[in-house]
Amino acid sequence: MRIGILTGGGDVPPLNAAIRAVCRRAFSYGWEVYGILDGYRGLIEGDLIELTPESVSDILNRGGTMLYSSRTNPQKVENGVQRCVETAKKYGLDAVIAIGGDDTMGAAYVLSQAGLPAVGIPKTIDNDVAETEYCLGFDTAINVIVDALDRLHTTAASHHRVLVCEVMGRGAGWLAIVGGMAGGADYIFCPEVPDKLDSVVEHIRRQREQGKKYSIVVVAEGAQIEGIGEEVEEIGTDAFGNPLLRKRGIGQRLADAIEEATGFATRHVVLGYIQRGGSPTAFDRALATRFGIAAVDLVKEGKIGYMVALKGREIVPVKLEKIAGVTEQVPQSFIEAARAMF
Ligand code: F6P
Repeated sequence: MRIGILTGGGDVPPLNAAIRAVCRRAFSYGWEVYGILDGYRGLIEGDLIELTPESVSDILNRGGTMLYSSRTNPQKVENGVQRCVETAKKYGLDAVIAIGGDDTMGAAYVLSQAGLPAVGIPKTIDNDVAETEYCLGFDTAINVIVDALDRLHTTAASHHRVLVCEVMGRGAGWLAIVGGMAGGADYIFCPEVPDKLDSVVEHIRRQREQGKKYSIVVVAEGAQIEGIGEEVEEIGTDAFGNPLLRKRGIGQRLADAIEEATGFATRHVVLGYIQRGGSPTAFDRALATRFGIAAVDLVKEGKIGYMVALKGREIVPVKLEKIAGVTEQVPQSFIEAARAMF
C-alpha cells in the first residue's frame, strides 16, 4: 500500500505528532507514505515528497507542520478535484489522510465522492469540527489563552484597568468560553450568544461598586455584539468563504467602546497566531498519536470516507458526510457554567 498525507487550513501545534503517528503505523505495515505539500495545493499540482522513518523522527514536540499548509480549496481551482484524483493515480496512492478542520473535511468528502479514497483527522484550535469532543490543537491553544489571561490579571489589577483579550474562534466560541472560564474572565463574548455593549458595561460597573477594581473581558473574533464590528462584507473571505476576522478589529473596538461608556481605562490585546504556535501539550500529542494510528487502521480495514473522532475515551470512525459544512458550537451548558462565574 502507498498512502498520502496532507495538512490543510490553519496550522496547530500537534500536526507533526499526527504525521509521525500516521507514518510509524503505516511503516509498521510495510506501507509507503507520501507527504503532500501545502495541503490541497500539493495534491492539485503534484507536489509530494516521500516520507521516511528518519524524516518523521524528532518531530513529536515540534509545532507547525513539516508538510506546510494552505487554504487551497480544490473546488475553487479549475479542474481542481479532477487534478487531485489524477495526482493520486500518478503516485499510486491507495488513500489520502487529510488532517484539517471542517473545510478540509468537506474537501476530503468531495474527493472521496470523486473516487479518491480519503480519511480525515480533525484539527483546529477553534474546536468546531462536528462529531468529535476534541480537535487537535484546541488543548494547546486554551493553555496559551489561560497563560495570557493569568498575565493580564496582574497588569490589569496593578492599573485598575479593564483588559479586553481577543481570541480566535470564528463561528464557535470554544476558545473564548473554555479559555475564559479557565482563566477567570469577568465577561465573555462568543459567537453563540448575540450580545450588546450595555451588558458588559453594566457588569463592570457593578463589579466596581462591589469593590473589584479591574476586569478581564474575553471576546471571540467572531462574537456578535450589537453595533460593534457588524460590517462583515467589507473584510473579505478566504477560499472557503470564511470571513477574514483578523481585519475586523473587534477587540480594539470593544475596548474603545467600554472605555467611552464607563470612563474606566481600558486596553486590549489580540492573541492571534500566538494561539496556534509553539510546542503541543501532552494531551494534544497523545490525541494526535491516537488519531494518526486510528486513521491508518481505517485505511487498512478499507473504511474510506470516514473521519476519526474522539467520543468519550474512544476513537471512533464518523462518516465525512456528517461533518462537511457543520460548525460545532459550544453547548449551552458550557456557556452557563462560564457565566455562573461572572
Ligand atoms: O484555523 C482556524 C483559525 O485559526 C480561525 O480561528 C481564524 O479565524 C483563522 O484560522 C485565521 O486564518 P488564517 O491563518 O488564514 O489567517
